Parts: sequence; C-alpha cells; structure tokens
Amino acid sequence: MSDAIDRREFLGRGWKAGIVMIGCAGAWTSWDLLRPLPGSGLGGIIETIAADEVPSDTAVYVRAAHTYVTRIGDEVVALWQKCPHLGCRVAWCDNSGEFECACHGSRFNRAGEHRSGPAPRGMDRFGVRVNEQGIVEVDTGTVAKGPPPGTATIEEPPRGESCS
Ligand code: FES
Repeated sequence: MSDAIDRREFLGRGWKAGIVMIGCAGAWTSWDLLRPLPGSGLGGIIETIAADEVPSDTAVYVRAAHTYVTRIGDEVVALWQKCPHLGCRVAWCDNSGEFECACHGSRFNRAGEHRSGPAPRGMDRFGVRVNEQGIVEVDTGTVAKGPPPGTATIEEPPRGESCS
C-alpha cells in the first residue's frame, strides 16, 4: 500500500515538474520572439565602406542596409533604396547617372532628388556617421524624408540613355 502512495506521489511530482518545464519553455519562447532586435540588422546601425572609398560620381549599393552610399560635395549620404512613390526598389543606372524606378518610371539624380515621375519627393535618407576606423556607418533606424520635387543641390544632367 505504501508503494502505491509513493508511486502516486512520484507521478504527481513528475506531472508538476513537467508542467513547470513546459511553462518555462513557453516563457523562454515568448521572450525570444518578443525581445527587441539587436541593432545590427536593418533598423539598426550597419557598417558599410571606408569613407575615403565613397565615390562622388556614382553610388555604391550596400545590400545589408538597403542603401546607396554616395558623396555629395564633402558630405557622405545614404539613400534608402525604397521608392517614395509605392516602395519599389530604386536602381542606380551608371549609364544615365541617375536612380531609376522600374515600377512607374520615377527618376532621381545622384543626390536622390526627384527629377521626374510620380514619386512625391526625393529618395529618403538614412543617418550617417564615420566611425573611428574611418568606416561609414548607416543608421537605418533614422530616416529623413526626401526633399520636395524641384530641389536641385547638384548640377548633374543625365549622362546617357536610361537603363530601363
Ligand atoms: S514605386 Fe517607384 S515610381 Fe512608383
């Protein structure tokens, strides 16, 4: 008889331990899903290229940051690839020296300023800084809306045929 009680007590404790373990696993999974992401992916700060390698006649695409990096005068700028019209990926066209959106034909100069098409403004920009190692860091959590149509801080007319 005392064996039966011990077995019953043993099974009861086993069930309780199992329920506690399932609860812990559930809590861990919830925390893992809901915790804030570290700041290294899109939405965080992403290292790109050396500041002295940023070109002033073209744009370098940085996939991890969804960004084009270029130099406008002394300033390094990071232009978000997302078209301000309906969000398609804007492509850099070396032939024309402009950004071109294949979806509805919006075009932007190398500074991301609106040139033509249905986009309501220029390309949006991410925050940029150069770290101690001379690498350009793009803060993809900080977005500045692109300038209104008609803004022209650089004088770079299309240099050739469009890519699209
Ligand atoms: S999404 Fe780029 S022009 Fe429409």
